[in-house]
Amino acid sequence: MEAKKAEDSLVVMNELVLPNDTNTFGNLMGGRLMYWMDIGAAMAAGKHCNKPCMTASVDNISFKNPIKLGNIVHIEVKLTRAFNTSMEVRIQVWGEDPLHKHKYASNEAYFTFVALDEHNRPSPVPALIPETDEEKEQYKAALRRRQLRLILGGKMSPDDATELKALFVQNAVGQNQQA
Ligand SMILES: CC(C)(COP(=O)(O)OP(=O)(O)OC[C@H]1O[C@@H](n2cnc3c(N)ncnc32)[C@H](O)[C@@H]1OP(=O)(O)O)[C@@H](O)C(=O)NCCC(=O)NCCS
Repeated sequence: MEAKKAEDSLVVMNELVLPNDTNTFGNLMGGRLMYWMDIGAAMAAGKHCNKPCMTASVDNISFKNPIKLGNIVHIEVKLTRAFNTSMEVRIQVWGEDPLHKHKYASNEAYFTFVALDEHNRPSPVPALIPETDEEKEQYKAALRRRQLRLILGGKMSPDDATELKALFVQNAVGQNQQA
């Protein structure tokens, strides 16, 4: 399978927050936003592997700023890394107030998708080529994020999370040297 560039998975979505999308505060409902994020992430994963994909996990999502009724939702999605049958997808969300020309960060999350074969079993995906400095940084950190979510999902023993453990050991050494 030929490796593919991270840039080739890019998906940009825009939505307008309508009354039916809001909660009682007049802000976009978190559940509606997560629905759009899941759709954007599924499209990016599908562009990369050209196979049906299933959401395997969603990392924590913190809502930094609410998106108001009548504002525009910008969702940008790109793969950070492909593993064997799974892919990590980064989703960034901004709100935009079109009347005051103000764009603000809303949230960011990582979703994991698994490609499936004709029997709905996990199926291998092409490797991902990171090109920009940001893509390379995301690619490197994706391995640690994967180890953390597999530990939390009961799919990996903490003893096997070599890169994740190394991060904590490095930080602990740095702090001891400063003390
Ligand atoms: C996701 C799913 C296909 C994984 O199937 P499985 O039989 O557990 O398969 P495996 O244990 O062989 O894992 C397959 C891949 O999924 C990854 N995976 C499994 N559980 C995971 C989790 N909780 N978080 C992240 N990745 C996970 C594995 O790391 C593996 O990736 P790799 O091949 O790149 O190393 C299966 O758990 C499933 O169908 N879940 C329901 C998904 C769903 O309903 N989503 C919402 C609707 S789209």
